[in-house]
Amino acid sequence: MNVDGTPYRTIWLDADGWAVGIIDQTRLPHRFACVRLETLEDAAHAIKAMLVRGAPLIGVAAAYGMALALRRDAGDAALEAAGATLLQTRPTAVNLRWAVEHLRRHLKPLPVGQRAAAAYARAAAMADEDVAINRAMGAHGLTLIRAAQAKKGGGPGAVVNVLTHCNAGWLATVDWGTALGPVYSAQAAGVPIHVWVDETRPRNQGAFLTAWELKAAGVPHTVIADNAGGHLMQHGQVDLCFVGTDRTTATGDVANKIGTYLKALAAHDNGVPFYVCLPSPTIDWSLRDGASIPIEERGADEVSHIAGLTDDGAIARVRLAPEGSPVANPAFDVTPARLVTGLVTERGVCAASAEGLLGLFPEQRGAAE
Ligand code: MRU
Repeated sequence: MNVDGTPYRTIWLDADGWAVGIIDQTRLPHRFACVRLETLEDAAHAIKAMLVRGAPLIGVAAAYGMALALRRDAGDAALEAAGATLLQTRPTAVNLRWAVEHLRRHLKPLPVGQRAAAAYARAAAMADEDVAINRAMGAHGLTLIRAAQAKKGGGPGAVVNVLTHCNAGWLATVDWGTALGPVYSAQAAGVPIHVWVDETRPRNQGAFLTAWELKAAGVPHTVIADNAGGHLMQHGQVDLCFVGTDRTTATGDVANKIGTYLKALAAHDNGVPFYVCLPSPTIDWSLRDGASIPIEERGADEVSHIAGLTDDGAIARVRLAPEGSPVANPAFDVTPARLVTGLVTERGVCAASAEGLLGLFPEQRGAAE
């Protein structure tokens, strides 16, 4: 995607061919800054402190973290230690485990002298695959948007209103995005579209990142408080919901940013289709029950404080909750498959069920049963 006319991905190799460049997402929307990662520790910090975030991007960042580690020491012990360091950064997005295990399997049989180059090559391939997957999901999601438009009578006046939660756009992936992929596909196809952007407390990925992305891309959008979605659905102002996911079980239960479940409940109550866009590396074929998905508990300060731009252009952090009030901060929740209208994958749209997923990914039958 373009930032002030310059094409960017969210992660890349710097000109020297070994260090890794990222956009520091903790500084958006008020500052655009890039950061150079030179070590495994840099990569692990970038994931844990959410300079990079979003399940697909976390996976690719972990793959580059492995490459940075092996550049220093490609022995068996270093390979295992690098994987262990990365795996403890964030627990919910399964793409992290997928990337680390994929690299371990791929690199272990290779001679030590070839491992670093092979890790860089695999990380680059994962990045390209992510973009291709997202574009394919965007095209499948576009058919759903077109159907919603037809239901409204078609025509240029039939603006399709999409509600999204958190940020599952290009910033959460390598490029293009999962839940926002269909939106960008609709925009490219000339389908009139408007996006309701959930602010997404406590870290405000909607207000900070999704709004920034959509504004830069010229997509009409409106930022709303998290509590507004149900009201808008009751008044016919939401045609479709599109969200991403950090881990979806083999039976179609969906873990995503905290608050997603409440939107799914409201959508169900109001007959609004609720779609989850998921690249196949986000499916955890080993789990059959969403209750088994580990839910990240993040720091209290994300809830008790908030940061933003003051009128004189400075970034300031202020306290919201009274000092001494205990705070809880579960970062994800699980939406049961029964509340999900469909799963949008790179291979098409399916029911949120074991049969639905296996219909699109029959090669996983052994792993999932
Ligand atoms: O905590 P975050 O910002 O990493 O959470 C991101 C989300 O929950 C996204 O919706 C999810 O990763 C899907 S992104 C394509």
